[in-house]
Amino acid sequence: MPKKGQLVAVDMGSYSVKVAEIESGKDGLILKTFGMAIFSPDVIVEGQIQDKAKASQTIKNLFTHLNIKNKNVCSAISGVSCILKKLPPMQSKTIEQIEEGLKGEMEQYIPYDIAEVYIDHFVQTSGGEIPKPGVVLSEAEVVVAAAPKALVDSYVEVLEAADLNPVIMDIGILAIQNAVEATVPELPGQYIIVNLGSECLSIHAVKGNVPIFTRDTVMGGGQLTRAIMANFDLTYFEAEAVKLGNRGVQPGKEGLLKKIFTDYVTEWTKEVSRAVEYLRYTFPEITMTTIYLTGGTSKLPGIKDAITLETRMNVIPVNPFQGLLVDSRRFDEEYLNLYAPESTQVVGMALRQAGDK
Ligand SMILES: Nc1ncnc2c1ncn2[C@@H]1O[C@H](COP(=O)(O)OP(=O)(O)OP(=O)(O)O)[C@@H](O)[C@H]1O
Ligand SMILES: [Mg+2]
Repeated sequence: MPKKGQLVAVDMGSYSVKVAEIESGKDGLILKTFGMAIFSPDVIVEGQIQDKAKASQTIKNLFTHLNIKNKNVCSAISGVSCILKKLPPMQSKTIEQIEEGLKGEMEQYIPYDIAEVYIDHFVQTSGGEIPKPGVVLSEAEVVVAAAPKALVDSYVEVLEAADLNPVIMDIGILAIQNAVEATVPELPGQYIIVNLGSECLSIHAVKGNVPIFTRDTVMGGGQLTRAIMANFDLTYFEAEAVKLGNRGVQPGKEGLLKKIFTDYVTEWTKEVSRAVEYLRYTFPEITMTTIYLTGGTSKLPGIKDAITLETRMNVIPVNPFQGLLVDSRRFDEEYLNLYAPESTQVVGMALRQAGDK
């Protein structure tokens, strides 16, 4: 039986859906459920759900396959249309004064028609703590989040059609940040997260647990798959197999394949490096030395070294399962390690559930 209030985390990505459940036990956090299923390529494109019926069916099948009885879920939206904006620090105010002041001010922070977005905000002390009611904060950090209603509603619709009850919608990159905070030992006070998935490259800088900068670009492993399809006249799944090294290309064409790989790795690396340069320029007082790397495409050979070389930063792959109690009779450690990079978001969402109690 699920614990009361426990939610199953469901991360619907452009490439695959991942689910996880984590419970807090007396000896630590326990991984209860983990699994994933690949969407067919027409289901979610650039974070937008194109085929709701197929998306629901894939999720429903995954829940059946994993024998998950709990219908209450949390999910997340992510991608270029989600806005995350840190406001300038606010001095000598209580949380109530800050929230009162934010009312009616949102238009200036959100580049959308305010009627068409869901808006949320969170306030932390500059040390990253949750403020207590009525306490005057010497300095407070406020982050505003917004996402198009149509996007959020489409995710909710898909989950409901899979007979699930979505209770919370998170922001993908914040869930990833949560997983990094919870699982990385000796986390530095300031760092950058790079999530390279199928259709989205997210670069997210954090200082004292507060997100100070987020940039999302429509880039990722899906580009590489499509380029392989086009250049070698292959189907999507054949191209995917070539990309993962499970299938070769026509003899004599290996050089072209290598060039396609190199070109995309260079393009993504340059995007990361541009963001790092921007951060160095905008926040000269903050010295960032570490990038935490996540997302399925971060498994591509050579990408970690390319980012290291280009940014001159320490690039560390994240394993979100590290630190969780995992029953080896229920989970294959090799399987978890294999899918660790793309599971950071779903684990971050599930950890929030465990931590909420
Ligand atoms: N071993 C691997 N080597 C290279 N690429 C891989 C490997 N394993 C998975 N990928 C690629 O990673 C991508 C999926 O990553 P991920 O699961 O992080 O994306 P997503 O969350 O589904 O999509 P989104 O971009 O919307 O967040 C796919 O393009 C897939 O081909
Ligand atoms: Mg993703």
